[in-house]
Amino acid sequence: MDWTSHTMERIPESGTLKMFDLAKRLENEGKKIYHFEVGQPDFPTPENVVNAGIEALKKGLTRYTPARGIPPLLDAIEGSYKSRGIDFDGTKNVIVTPGAKMALFAGFLATIDAGDDVLLLAPAWPTYRVMIRALNAKPVDVHTNGNYAIDEEALKNKISRTVSALVINTPNNPTGGVLSNDNMKLIHDLAEDHDFVVFSDEIYESLVYDGFKQTSMLEIDPTMEHTLVISGFSKSHAMTGWRLGYAIGNDETISNMARIQQNTTSCAASFTQYAGAKALTGDQSSIERMVEEYQKRRDVITRLFNEIEGIACLNPKGAFYVFPNFVEYGLSSATLAELFLKKIGICSSPGGVFGEKYDSYLRFSYSTSLEDIEEGMSLLAKFLPTIR
Ligand SMILES: Cc1ncc(COP(=O)(O)O)c(C=O)c1O
Repeated sequence: MDWTSHTMERIPESGTLKMFDLAKRLENEGKKIYHFEVGQPDFPTPENVVNAGIEALKKGLTRYTPARGIPPLLDAIEGSYKSRGIDFDGTKNVIVTPGAKMALFAGFLATIDAGDDVLLLAPAWPTYRVMIRALNAKPVDVHTNGNYAIDEEALKNKISRTVSALVINTPNNPTGGVLSNDNMKLIHDLAEDHDFVVFSDEIYESLVYDGFKQTSMLEIDPTMEHTLVISGFSKSHAMTGWRLGYAIGNDETISNMARIQQNTTSCAASFTQYAGAKALTGDQSSIERMVEEYQKRRDVITRLFNEIEGIACLNPKGAFYVFPNFVEYGLSSATLAELFLKKIGICSSPGGVFGEKYDSYLRFSYSTSLEDIEEGMSLLAKFLPTIR
């Protein structure tokens, strides 16, 4: 008997897994691999945050917590937004989840029906597409120009009566681009006019450079009638393995998501939540140091890419990715990525996984040392002319 559900036909393996496995094999053979594929900070979790987690464990705070999260963390989330002039009630408008991924999935489950269209501002993180398909809804790409700027006509053309949600992600994975305030207002106006919900994935919002300040969708839609913000601690506080994320939205959506959480994961891990509260209320200097270091690396990687003939690489304002275009080389992103890995040990993510239109791009994460960035780009500069 075949036990596999039909849903599994819509849940593929991660598009980057093949690269990752190959990189591991080569590394085991003793080859030096330059890891530009990683989507997580290479910094350790700040010490004060680690200590708060350990303290919670030692105090025996190891039981189930309320499904929405522990009060000190809900307060800390409310307080961190209040300090930016954004007001909501942590007890009603927030749910804490095991990672932002779970906040997204519960959010989709609470708002999208089978058969709905969900617009994705593309290029888009592949997880959105997979989750939407798993729910038997249809992801529809809306392409952006250059550094994640909206093409108003292209967006309006994709809006129909079957659209129930639009996903935006600023700063964006994979381009590092950011949405302007005007673009965010346009999205909100369209959401009001056509009555759909905007999923605003703001997980990279604190990783911004050149003094840029990322506006939250909550500033544009304070009533949260058409907005669900998704965020978390993985990127801002180098806490990927702790699994801690959250959603901020209107009372009804958050209550529905709490029902989903009660019946699935129950809650985020208890000690992780105490660590998260410290991450928001404690000393923030290690975050500032991380951002400074990322900015330095971004400047170096974009400069070195643009020195290579035939590559166009924009200088993005946020996250820790660049998304150079290799169109001049005439190969698919999967072929290029495999070639770079096998020949010169450069591991990157093929652009095709972020949307069909991006198959001439590769995503390079600069969440790796400056030394590896410089060496890796030098290898690439020497290798590329051999395949032209
Ligand atoms: C755009 C985006 N949103 C959400 C996440 C998920 O974060 P978490 O580790 O909190 O599940 C990621 C992780 O790569 C991401 O790139």
